[in-house]
Amino acid sequence: MAPPDAILGLTEAFLADPNPNKMNLSVGVYKDATGKTPILKCVKEAEKQLVANELTKGYLPINGSPDYSSHLADLIFGDTIDRSRLAILQTPGGTGGLRIAAGFLASQLAPIRLWTPNPTWANHLPVFASEGVPLESYRYLSADRTSLDIDGMLDDLKEKAKPGEAVLLHACCHNPTGIDPTSEQWTEIAKVLADKHLLPVIDFAYQGFGKGLQEDTSSIHAVLKENDEAIICNSFSKNFGLYSERVGGLTLVAANDSAAKAAMSQLKKIVRCNFSNPPRHGAAIVSAILSDSDLTASWHEELASMRDRIQQLRNQFVETMKTSGSGHDFSFLLPQNGMFSYSGLNKMQVDQLKNEHSIYIVGSGRINVAGMSEDRMQQLCDAVAQVLES
Ligand code: LMR
Repeated sequence: MAPPDAILGLTEAFLADPNPNKMNLSVGVYKDATGKTPILKCVKEAEKQLVANELTKGYLPINGSPDYSSHLADLIFGDTIDRSRLAILQTPGGTGGLRIAAGFLASQLAPIRLWTPNPTWANHLPVFASEGVPLESYRYLSADRTSLDIDGMLDDLKEKAKPGEAVLLHACCHNPTGIDPTSEQWTEIAKVLADKHLLPVIDFAYQGFGKGLQEDTSSIHAVLKENDEAIICNSFSKNFGLYSERVGGLTLVAANDSAAKAAMSQLKKIVRCNFSNPPRHGAAIVSAILSDSDLTASWHEELASMRDRIQQLRNQFVETMKTSGSGHDFSFLLPQNGMFSYSGLNKMQVDQLKNEHSIYIVGSGRINVAGMSEDRMQQLCDAVAQVLES
């Protein structure tokens, strides 16, 4: 028997838990005030149009729909880059893109090592290890686990990484910590990557959940200002609420047009041996929304309201913790971005939350703030306080 997955395995355990007061704050999924993961209105509308107008379920090209790729490039790059330098794949979710990126590193650049932040998304290491990419980690979190250790990060990249190696970065809403570099720090990071000839591999799963759709691309632009090459894997699971439709992408930024064409030929080879060609429906929804100005406007609004509500929940959690049990100061969570907060709870406390209160959070202490609810905040905070005080 393989062990359960560090994140999705918790949902399996949650579903099997008979406690009627259970709470799932593990997997990164947005829930509204009624505890449901809603289908966005713009998505419902786009689906109506697709049902009425779709003409075929024939295969897409190996690299996906050109229309979708062009919307993806608009969202991530705007007009900041010559499009002939981009090799874009439509992939099944962000994970599909990461797995193809891993295949590319392993088949084209071996024995390249990949430096990942410590901590990082629990699935990053197995995805890259599955393709045999050797992994190393760089410092990311301060010793008290409440802020970025920028000096440690830059020192590790300067002193330990070797020229030509790859570095995994989270463009925004770092998963699991919610702690992102400032724009000045991104410029510093970008310069170190360029000085050391390190290849940025950027995971961009939460566009729009940090400061805003455009604002969240600034880290990528800072990196590309100093570096000619990068691989960017993005997901539309969260910002379009299209989790189960598996919509994402991989963009390889090359130094020039002929390198981009060569890279694309290799990427297609890797896709063909993996999922062959991407699924149509979710990407067609994204394209339908982004090619209609009313639907796009409605999407912007819905995304902003998810982002704002998550921030309110984070504030409410911090406020409620102040008066729960003997009172606990969680104000270090306030500057964190995106769906998650890194609570500082240790493995034993996380287990206790699960076993004694049926509250499920990830083993690293990561809490999915986007899964909290206003109504049940007191229940959550009382349980956290009890665990901290026991
Ligand atoms: C998460 O970190 O919870 C999400 O990215 C979902 C997943 O696939 O793990």
